[in-house]
Parts: sequence; structure tokens; C-alpha cells
Amino acid sequence: NSDPAIAEYTLTADYGISEIIPNMTTNTLGYNGNLLGPTIRSKVGEAVIIHVKNNLMDSTTVHWHGLIVSGKVDGGPHQIIETGETWSPEFVLTQPALTAWYHPHLMGETATQVYQGLGGLWIHDDEASSSLGLPETYGVDDVPLIIQDRAFYKDGSLYYNPNMMNGAVGNVIMINGKVGPYAEVPSSWVRLRLLNGSNAAQHKMNFSDERPFYQIASDGGLLESPVKMTSIELAPGERAEIMVDLQSTQKGDAVFLMVSNTKSLKLVSNGTKTNNYVLKDQLVEIEKWDSADVENERYFDLEGVAHMVSINGESFDMNSVAFSLPVGRLEKWTVSNVSDSSGGMGMMSSGTEHSFHVHGLQFQVLSRNGALPPEGERGWKDTVFLKPGEKVEILVKFTLEGVFMYHCHNLEHEDAGMMGQFQVT
Ligand code: C2O
Ligand code: CU
Ligand code: CU
Repeated sequence: NSDPAIAEYTLTADYGISEIIPNMTTNTLGYNGNLLGPTIRSKVGEAVIIHVKNNLMDSTTVHWHGLIVSGKVDGGPHQIIETGETWSPEFVLTQPALTAWYHPHLMGETATQVYQGLGGLWIHDDEASSSLGLPETYGVDDVPLIIQDRAFYKDGSLYYNPNMMNGAVGNVIMINGKVGPYAEVPSSWVRLRLLNGSNAAQHKMNFSDERPFYQIASDGGLLESPVKMTSIELAPGERAEIMVDLQSTQKGDAVFLMVSNTKSLKLVSNGTKTNNYVLKDQLVEIEKWDSADVENERYFDLEGVAHMVSINGESFDMNSVAFSLPVGRLEKWTVSNVSDSSGGMGMMSSGTEHSFHVHGLQFQVLSRNGALPPEGERGWKDTVFLKPGEKVEILVKFTLEGVFMYHCHNLEHEDAGMMGQFQVT
């Protein structure tokens, strides 16, 4: 395309054969390849056109998780792409830079399609973020990591068990479609874009030598200031960008990224310098919404385990819209995981974790369990994690019209109906 203000992409969903575990083959699904999909890049104000072609024998949809687009092109359960068809949504993003992702969202099939390999990253840029001098050489010092747990049969085929209480949780960590990979990294600051693309499990990430790192971005973009930490937990669907200082490493030095306490990615220094980043206290300014301006409140009770999950006691119905609200209205949504965590009623009372994801916007977390949210949640968010008994208040304000989803991002829960839809007018 000769017009620089238009970015045009094709994503073709198809079958593949992948080497996820060394020397074994696995039947998978992928976009434009055997597994996962290309990283799509966009800039503020640029028109994006994506041609999504479905070469699968099943229907599918593609949802742009984290992107603020109108309901018509959001790719939720209504925008079905039948076998052999192509869907070509177009939109212009005005939101700040972020690491987002895309994945299928077909009612009842989201979990299996994602599990088999459909999904990819979306990196959106703006001037504020690119003027900060952050590492931005893709795959060198700006490294995307799609983190997913999986289980396999001995012959290498994927083992999928959706009937567990907490959804499908694998015993092996796959990063960018590989089990036990390694990455060469420079002896510089390195920016890792973490996505927990797992179906159901929350994962903790840290380094094998417990070195500190800095979280610089949450789901929806850069934080106001870097947050120093030694580990970070991400629920399915959540993203974080972290900066790790490898400046003093020598060629050949190695450190592991641990995912849920297993050495999942070996980072080996190659001794080169690729940036001169200096950590600053200030990243970007985020316009904070004021809870005094809230015009309406809503409550979302997340409840149940396995297939008996619901939001406010309701199971998803393609034909019913739970509520509607106007563009521009500030609302406070109180989200509670009402699973009983007190014990005493046997298995079912141990409580299940849920996460709450909303389409069509980035929201702000007002409180977690009555207190200020942790610093890493004080930026733009689209997904929040709730342990049994937890309560999170979020502030929402929509800018685009359409029908959008809210749901648990445990994909087995979502497919079991832990989802609702609303209309922005
Ligand atoms: Cu990541 Cu409704 O989805
Ligand atoms: Cu989404
Ligand atoms: Cu859930």
C-alpha cells in the first residue's frame, strides 16, 4: 500500500504442525503460520485494515483485546467468520501506546481455539511513548513474550481438559510457542512485553536470581512511573511491560525468567549495547478520573466454579443485552468475587479465582478490597484479577458506540457463560 497513513494486514487462520517441544510435533492452529500469529503494529491516528480469513473447518471470530474500537469491529461473539470467509474490519486508534493482543472469541469455542494456538500480539505506538528513549528494537531489546501453559500427551499432541474446576491448566509453560526456549539479549536495559495468554491460570513471573525489575506498563499503556518489584502476577488476558537492567552482564551470562516457579525462558547476554536508556521517575501523565464525578453505579458478582459460573446469577445469552449506557458517562463498577473462601463446605467452597475483562475501553482501578490498588494497577487496565472474596471498584467511561462484552477471562468460564453484553449508545 502506498499510503503511509494506512496499515493493512492479513491474518489467515489455518491448521499447522508445530515443534513446541524439541523433536516432537504437535497439531496446532495459527494465523499466517503454524502457531500463534504475527505481531501487528499500529500508530495513533493511522487507519488500520485487517483482512481476517478463516481457513478452518469451524467458524471463528477475532477480537482485538485492549483496543478501543467500536462494537461493530470489536470481533466479539457476534462477528462470526464462517469457513472460507474473510472479515475486513477497519478502524483508527486514538488511545495511547499499549501492548494488546488478538484472539478468537467464538461463543463456546474461544477456549479450544486459543488453546490450539490462535492468538497474537498487537503493539500500538504513539509519540509520547516513543519519545521516552525506551528500548524499541523489536526482538532485540524490546521482546514480546506470550506466556501460556499447556499439557501434552506423550506423542506431543495437545492434551486439553476443560472439565477441571478452574478451567484448563497445563503443567508446561510455553513461551512464544516453544517449551524451554532461550533468547539472546544485549547487555543493556531490556524491555519485556509480557502477555499471560493462558486459558485459565494466573502466573507469577520473576527472575531466577531474584533481580529486581521495573513495571512500566499495565494492560492499557505506560504507567505514570516505573514500579520496582521482584515478581509480578498476571491473570489470563493481562499484560505488563517490564524493564530489566542487564547492563552489567557479560557475554554468556544467563538468567532465567521464571513462570510460576519454573525456569521457562533462558536469557543469555551477547555482550552488545543496544540502547543507553536511563531509568526516569516519570513516564507519562494519565488523566485520573474523579470518583466524585461518577454518574451511575453497577455491580458485578462473579460466582461459581467449573461450568456453573455466572455474573450476577446470569449465564450468557446472545440475544439479551444486560444494560445500556451513553458514551462519555463516568460510571463506577463494583466487581466482586463472591466465591466462598471460608472453607467448611467441602470442595466447592475452596473458591475459584476469576478475572474481569471489559471490551470497548480501558478503565481505571479505583480500589482493591477497599484500599488503593497496587501501583502496577494505577494505569489503564482492561482486565483485573480477583481472588475469592476480593472486591475491585473500577471507573469506566466509553468513547465509542456498540455492543460490547464483559466476562471472566478464564476462557473455560467464559465459554461456560460467564459473560454478559451491554450497549453503548
Ligand atoms: Cu481477551 Cu473478550 O477477550
Ligand atoms: Cu477483550
Ligand atoms: Cu471465572
